[in-house]
Amino acid sequence: MAGRIRQRILSGMRPTGRLHLGHLHGVLENWKRLQETYDCYFLVADWHALTTNYEHPQEIPSNIEEMVLDWLAVGIDPDKVTLFIQSEVKEHAELHLLLSMITPVSWLERNPTYKEQQQQLKEKDLATFGFLGYPVLQAADIIMYKANRVPVGVDQLPHLELSREIARRFNYLYGDIFPIPESMLTEVPKLPGLDGRKMSKSYDNSIFLSDSPEVVRKKISTMITDVERPRMKDPGDPENRCIAFKLHQLYLSPERLDVIVSECKAAKRGCAACKKELAEAIICKMAPIWQKRKVLAADPERVKAILADGAERARKVAQSTMAQVRSALWNRHVR
Ligand code: TRP
Repeated sequence: MAGRIRQRILSGMRPTGRLHLGHLHGVLENWKRLQETYDCYFLVADWHALTTNYEHPQEIPSNIEEMVLDWLAVGIDPDKVTLFIQSEVKEHAELHLLLSMITPVSWLERNPTYKEQQQQLKEKDLATFGFLGYPVLQAADIIMYKANRVPVGVDQLPHLELSREIARRFNYLYGDIFPIPESMLTEVPKLPGLDGRKMSKSYDNSIFLSDSPEVVRKKISTMITDVERPRMKDPGDPENRCIAFKLHQLYLSPERLDVIVSECKAAKRGCAACKKELAEAIICKMAPIWQKRKVLAADPERVKAILADGAERARKVAQSTMAQVRSALWNRHVR
């Protein structure tokens, strides 16, 4: 974009509550790298949370709080990025409405995540207009800031593809206002949870960023390792069979890794010892995050101020975009 020095990034998360190590290594570490070189906008997608949680909206504010504390504690820096809550920038609702006028229902109905989620969340009635329009709201989030790149996981690619199509359609109908956002896929190995399945809040197998050292020790001690190695005297195969080893690779030094691999293969090291070492390594890495989280949690005014400042900055951009959108739509000249 002419005049813009840094490329702009927008990404977001639905406030589902406390985040776990999977979020840290999969998303937040990446955001932290990006905040050093890009003009980043990170949003708390609370209206998106409402599409599936409209029956329990009272849970959303505390989920926002927990998630924002996690973001800040791991080092998302409000001096470098614009961090804000979607519903505090009402322009998103206006753009969502206008985009909904030009979005064919068939595009939304063929969105694979639409049917998938409806099936997965059977206990909820998701046959709503808002849920069908989820990707339209996401498109509004992204193009509102004329984002060039959107860091997302593979699961979000269909949504991003829809955002691109919606942006193209707007440009085609009313004039070239929006850059077509590109995805920025992050290659992250799925982090195993305590039971060996992907770490996920809904599987109850997560280590949360806000867990205490005692909880981390207890949880790790229950973690599945190498099921083909019931006794210590059986030689292990950590690289190929041990579930916990994926975490060791993240948290232990290369030197220690070499040692535990050879000891495990030689049946000289038991899984309990290995998990103890892992727990201590995680605790050591998490200590500064816990410390920061504690300080922030004790200072809600500061967090409020960060969010107010973020919303104000986001709003300025959103207002300028909406002025252009309205004038393109009604064929009036921009101021
Ligand atoms: N749908 C995303 C998720 O569930 C959250 C989200 C909302 C988002 N708006 C966004 C992600 C804009 C990227 C860009 O994770």
